[in-house]
Formats: sequence, structure tokens, C-alpha cells
Amino acid sequence: MTLNIVILAAGQGKRMVSDLPKVLHPLAGRPLLAHVLDAARALSPARIIVVTGHGAEQVRKAAAAPDIVFVNQQPQHGTGHAVQQAQEQLLPGGRTLVLLGDVPLIQAETLRPLAEGAADRVCMLTAMVDDADGYGRVVRDAGKQVQCVVEHKDASRAQLEIREINTGIFAYPTARLAGWLDRLDNNNAQGEYYLTDVLPMALKDHVNVEAVACADVTQVQGVNNRAQLAQLERAHQQRIAQRLLDGGVALIDPARFDVRGDLQCGTDVIIDVGCIFEGKVKLGNGVRIGAYNVLRDVDIAAGTELLPFNHITQAAIGSNCIVGPYTRIRPGTTLADEVHLGNFVEVKASQVGYGTKASHLSYIGDTTLGSRVNVGAGTITCNYDGANKHRTVIEDDVFIGSDTQFIAPVTVRRGATIAAGTTVTREVAADVLAISRVKQVVIEGWKRPVKSKKEG
Ligand code: UD1
Ligand code: CA
Repeated sequence: MTLNIVILAAGQGKRMVSDLPKVLHPLAGRPLLAHVLDAARALSPARIIVVTGHGAEQVRKAAAAPDIVFVNQQPQHGTGHAVQQAQEQLLPGGRTLVLLGDVPLIQAETLRPLAEGAADRVCMLTAMVDDADGYGRVVRDAGKQVQCVVEHKDASRAQLEIREINTGIFAYPTARLAGWLDRLDNNNAQGEYYLTDVLPMALKDHVNVEAVACADVTQVQGVNNRAQLAQLERAHQQRIAQRLLDGGVALIDPARFDVRGDLQCGTDVIIDVGCIFEGKVKLGNGVRIGAYNVLRDVDIAAGTELLPFNHITQAAIGSNCIVGPYTRIRPGTTLADEVHLGNFVEVKASQVGYGTKASHLSYIGDTTLGSRVNVGAGTITCNYDGANKHRTVIEDDVFIGSDTQFIAPVTVRRGATIAAGTTVTREVAADVLAISRVKQVVIEGWKRPVKSKKEG
């Protein structure tokens, strides 16, 4: 059966108090609309139509994809008016599912009963809530048959008591929709064309109207302000945390943990509090992540431990390494197995070989470090001459004394020793000692200056 999905995303979102269109506000690092699109795509629709309005250009740019058709609603005269704008783009036959761009946690499984099944019926996703303030209420007759939805602003005292609400998510037989949308009017408290007014028309045409209940209220909650956005962010993170806990990951505190992308974990992974995982992160078996690590697009092999407070981006880390605290690893870096990087060590676009150690206060950029290299404290690769970047190559088993500078491009051959305080400007051969140091001078009987007494 042909499935159209229309996503309403024209609203302004005034209460966000923001220049960013509401559907572009991030949840778990991605726009609200992207989450709705995930659920939509999981249903394999024939067509997805996004109705834009406020910030249309920005929304289009952010969501553009070959499988999406955008239509513009200008100005915005209500949810019924919004679907009218999409009408021309609907593929004929089958069903049309309407989703809201600011209801991000909806799951495909919840939508399936609306999208599939008997074609000739209208389905409305409803929910029972404690506080129905602002929502349209589902009005049923004595036989419990749905009759209509009454908007909060149009509701009578008695109707305001109803706890069953319209989530705003509907599915219609596409062939019937045009006829109903054409008959909508705006004789209501808000002077808008209400999509909900389709229900009584369908009933009059002897089309079944079915309410499908959604028990998980977070799935149908909308984002109208930043407090609600923060609430849904937590709900989403809790969902991810639960999945990881069920899969055997030890989260020290599932409430202090954020995934903004895709986190894959092996067995017996331990994650301490305050960590943020962005993009694609893979943690091998037995990996331990200390408190407050921020990782983006990182692959970590088995048995490695991150001590607290590291910032690691686009890097591959081998097995049984120890990193941190306070290590910064920048894009294009790979660490082989059993590497140790310590506090205030920054590594960028470098390959670090097996068993190599840089324990304190170093900058390693555009460098190939061999195996078993010892990098002394304060070692700096001077990779930038003000115009271009140059590489440093340090071969296996090199010992680098503290406070050494490598003026790139430069190569140090295997087994060489660099004395502390050396500035390496030329290639160093294998197994030699390189030293560049001003000779120490001793001045006997030297007196420290004393503070002169101020006059007057
Ligand atoms: C709507 C429903 C209400 C339901 C509630 C659920 C109607 C008449 N009311 O009310 O029954 O309980 O959602 O959250 O349908 N939009 C457009 N163009 C417009 C107006 C809205 O694209 O002209 C989009 C908004 O961006 C938003 C969605 O439609 O994503 C809902 O609009 P909103 O104004 O929030 O509707 P409510 O008054 O909350
Ligand atoms: Ca709303």
C-alpha cells in the first residue's frame, strides 16, 4: 500500500525565544525534525512531505535529502491549512500519515498500526495525560465511539475535564483526504483551519474513525519551550542508557551520561559519570571510561582505560592503552596498543606506535612516533612555520629527553637519544646522542639584587 507521510513543521515556536526555527533545535545533538524523519523513514513510505513556514529556508537546508519533498505554508493558518499545502504532492491511493515536526520521540512501532492495516479508515493517535492543558480533547459518545476533537480554546467546562488528548498524529485514506480538506472552515476560537475537523466529516461519510492509544506519553510530547526540550532530552537519554544497561554496560549513573550519536560497546565496559559521546563511538571489551570524558567519532580497542577529563575527536585508540587525565587527542590520530598518554599532552594528526609513552606536557602534531618511544615532559613538535605544516618522524626506540623541540620537517632514526633541552633541526642518525645545549656557566660570589629603599 502506498504510504505518504506529511510532517508539519511550519510553526514558529515563539516560546523557545530563539532565532533558530523550532524544529531545528537539537535533541541528542540532532534537530528535532531529524528524529521525526528517522521514525518516518523506518516505515518505508513512498513519499515524505515536509511543510515548512517559519525559517523555511533554514529548515530546507538542514533537512534536504533526495527522499523529501518540501512545501511552503505561507502564512500559517492552522494544521488543516498546513496539510492542504501538501495535498498536491501526495501520491494517489493508500494512506497518508501526518506527523508533527516538534514531537521528536515518536517511534516507528507506535505509528505502524496507523500506517498499516485496513485502508479505508481514519486513525488518530491519542494518549491519556494527567495535565491536558493546551491539548485538543477527544470527545466520545455514550457508546465510546470517537465523535470529534475539541481544541482547548473551544472546549466547554465539561470537555476540559477530559484526559484523553489528541496527539496531533493521524492517518487517512489518501483518496478521501482532498474532499475533506476542501470543506474545512475557520469558524473557531483561533480563526484557524483545524485538521481535527476532518473527523466529523469522515464519520458523516461513514468512514471508520479509530483512536489508537499510545501508553508511552513521552513519545507524543511536543516541544514548545526549552524546559520541555530539556525534559525530552533526558527521556531520550534514559532510553539509551536503559538499552546499554540491558546490554551489559556498567553506567555508574545513567542519569549523568549523554549520547549524541551512536555508541557501541563490547562486554564489561564501564562508564563513569559526566561523559559525552558524539558521532560514532565504539568501545571494545573491558574498556573503562573515567569521569568527564568527551569523545567524538572515536574507536577504542579492548582493555584501554581513559582516566578522567579527556577530549578526543576522530581518533582510533588501540588496546590496553592508558590515556589521561587531561589529554587532548585531535582528528587523524591513531594510537597503537599499550600507548600511554598523560596529563596535558596534545596529539594531532599523528601515528603513535606500540608501547610509546608521552606522560606529561607535550604537543605532538603531524608526527609519526615509532614503537617504544619515550617522549619526555615538555616535548614539542614545531610543525608550523607560519605558512605550512611539516611532519616529524621519530623511529622505534628513540629516547627523547625533556624540553625538546623538533623543528619539522625532521627525522630521528631508530634508537637515537635526544638529550634534554635539545632543539632538533637536522636528521639524527640511528643510535647516536643528539644534544644542543648552551654550556653552563658558573659565576662565583654572585649576589642577588636587593630591593632599593624608596626615598621619603
Ligand atoms: C494541535 C492539535 C491538538 C493537539 C495538539 C497536539 C489541531 C487543530 N490541534 O494543537 O488537537 O492536541 O496539536 O500537540 O490540529 N503547524 C503548521 N502550520 C500551521 C499550524 C501548525 O505547520 O499553520 C505545525 C506546527 O509547527 C506544529 C504542529 O503543526 O508542529 C502543531 O501545531 P500547534 O500550533 O502546536 O497546534 P496545537 O494548537 O498545539
Ligand atoms: Ca503544540
